[in-house]
Amino acid sequence: MQPTRARTLRKRWRKRAVANWPLRRLAKRIKVMETKISEIAEGIYRLSTYVSDIAPPAGFTFNQFLVLGDEPLMFHTGLRKMFPLNRDALNRIIEADRLRWIAFGHFEADECGAMNEWLALAPQATPAHGQTGCMVSLNDFADRAPRVMNDNETIDLGGKRIRFIDTPHTPHGWDAGVLYEETTRTLLCGDLFTQLGNERAMTDGDVVGPAIAAEDIFKYSSLNPGMGSTIRSLSKLAPRTLALMHGPAFVGDGAAALEALADDYDRRLSDLVRVGRI
Ligand SMILES: [Fe+2]
Ligand SMILES: [Fe+2]
Repeated sequence: MQPTRARTLRKRWRKRAVANWPLRRLAKRIKVMETKISEIAEGIYRLSTYVSDIAPPAGFTFNQFLVLGDEPLMFHTGLRKMFPLNRDALNRIIEADRLRWIAFGHFEADECGAMNEWLALAPQATPAHGQTGCMVSLNDFADRAPRVMNDNETIDLGGKRIRFIDTPHTPHGWDAGVLYEETTRTLLCGDLFTQLGNERAMTDGDVVGPAIAAEDIFKYSSLNPGMGSTIRSLSKLAPRTLALMHGPAFVGDGAAALEALADDYDRRLSDLVRVGRI
């Protein structure tokens, strides 16, 4: 090869390598990431992927939940770029095309970014979300028409029964809601109680202190006057398990944890009112 031609090719390769660097870095990172599976309540599985680059050195987890029944439901789709990881993990529990329902807490990439990938993989699956979310996002975004769920409406999954509860703007998102699985008393609480780290899949320890610390760091909640009472109303369900999207699943007195979290949000609001910020 002519020296000039070799030089041009080397230059071109270097240019491409630089341009593709973020992609190669992500691909490398995804290759080393793994999705761990734990059963957090009877027939409810947590699929958890830890990302050490977010909020280092503690890192951050992204969790999806599979609720098994005659009509299996997945809560959260995971990020679109994590789809291969989550698909492979789910396939270790059931064949992904058996999924019948895809639900999530609010419209955001980690909650529903991979929805259409899942819908393509599971031809019988239907996305399900609250009225606001369907009206403002899913009717356009989802490749298949969504099932609109009213506040407190239930779906019988055959062996499991889930209830959709509207929690607008709590912790964020106009369309926000949570799912409650009645037979196991598991509250799939999405971003509520978000915390850093990846110490274990389940805990019976403190989930409120780490959630307060994460709120101080991320400031991810849309503080609003109804927030405390919205969270407090969930405590009436007396959940036995709180399935956190970002953190471990908590087993214990879910009502007390929800009340303590509600109190902390009330405190944040009163602090802002006192200093005239709202
Ligand atoms: Fe969120
Ligand atoms: Fe989230």
